[in-house]
Amino acid sequence: GTTLRDLAEAKGSYFGTALTQSNLNSSTITAIAGTQFDMVTPGNEMKWDTTEPSAGNFNFGPGDQIVSFAKAHSMRVRGHTLVWHSQLPNWVSSLPTAQVQAAMENHITTEATHYKGQVYSWDVVNEPFNEDGTLRTDAFTNAMGSGYIADALRTAHAADPNAKLYLNDYNIEGLGAKSDAMYQLVSTLKQQGVPIDGVGFESHFIVGQVPSTLKANIQRFTALGVNVAITELDDRMPVPASAANLAQQATDYANVVNSCLAVTGCVGVSQWGVGDPDSWIPDFFSGYGAATMYDANYQPKAAYNAVVTALGGS
Ligand code: G3I
Repeated sequence: GTTLRDLAEAKGSYFGTALTQSNLNSSTITAIAGTQFDMVTPGNEMKWDTTEPSAGNFNFGPGDQIVSFAKAHSMRVRGHTLVWHSQLPNWVSSLPTAQVQAAMENHITTEATHYKGQVYSWDVVNEPFNEDGTLRTDAFTNAMGSGYIADALRTAHAADPNAKLYLNDYNIEGLGAKSDAMYQLVSTLKQQGVPIDGVGFESHFIVGQVPSTLKANIQRFTALGVNVAITELDDRMPVPASAANLAQQATDYANVVNSCLAVTGCVGVSQWGVGDPDSWIPDFFSGYGAATMYDANYQPKAAYNAVVTALGGS
C-alpha cells in the first residue's frame, strides 16, 4: 500500500496523529486518520483537567471515545498525559503540599488502571523542564522536588506494567541545555532502576529550522537503553504559505522521518493533528500556520509526498 501507516509498518515503525473528541465528528478527518495513521494520541482527552476535574471524580468518557476509534481502525494509542503542569485543574495546584503526592499517585493509578492494556505507551510526565535545563517549578516539584518524576514512573508501572513509559518534552530535539538535562535525568533514572522506556521529542518545528543534531541526539538517548518517539511533529511557517516554504517543509518532514528511521530504537513518528485546520499553531503563534502534511482542504501537501518517499513508497 501507499498509505503512511502501511509504509511505516513495512519498516517496523508506525505513523501517528493526534485526534480530539471533536475531530471524531468530522468524516473528512476520520477518513484520513483511519486510513493513513496507525497510532493516535488524544489531543486533550486524557489530560488531568478532563479526566479528574475535581478531586476523586474521574471522567474517562472523552478518552474512551478516542480509544474506541483507535480500536475500530486497528490503531494503537499513545496515552497523553498523566502528570503535567498545564491543563492541570486548580484543585491540584491549590492542595497543601503535603497532599500533592497522594493526589498524583491516585490520579496516575486510577487513569493508568482504567486504560490498562489499551494504551501502547504513556507520556507519564510531560514537559518537566525549563529552557535552561532546570526543572520547572510547579505543584509537583513544590511538593516532592525532583523525586516526583521517579515516583510517577513507578506508580504508572505498577498500574500498567506493559505500557511503555515516556517522558515527553519540546525543544529537546537537538543537542543543547534542555536536551542535556533530559539526557542526565534519563541516565540517572536508568541507573536507579526506575521504570522508563522512552523519551518523546515533541518536534514542534519552524520551517527550515529542524536541528542539524536531531539524529545524533536520538542516537545518544537510544544508547542509554530507551526508545525515542517523535511525538507531536509539525512545522510551522508564516501564512499565507509561500511555495518556497512548502518545499522546505517537505525537506524538513523527510529529514525528521529519515532521522528516526536511521536509528534503531526510534520507534515512530506522530504528527500533532491531521491537517492544517486541526493544528494548534494558529491559535498559539499569531501569523503562523500550514504546519501539517494536509492543507486547508485536506489535500496532501508536498510534505506528505516527501514522507511517503522517505518511508520507501512512491
Ligand atoms: O475547552 C475549552 C472551551 O470550553 C473554551 O470555550 C475554549 C476557549 O478558549 O477553550 C477550550 O479549551 C482549549 C483546549 O485546548 C480544548 O480545545 C484551551 O483554551 C486550549 O488552550 C487548549 O489547547 C491545547 C493545548 O495543548 C493546551 O496546552 C491544544 O488543544 C492541544 O493541542 C495542546 O497540545 C499540547 C500537548 O498536549 C503538549 N505539547 C504541546 C502541545 C501543543 O500546545
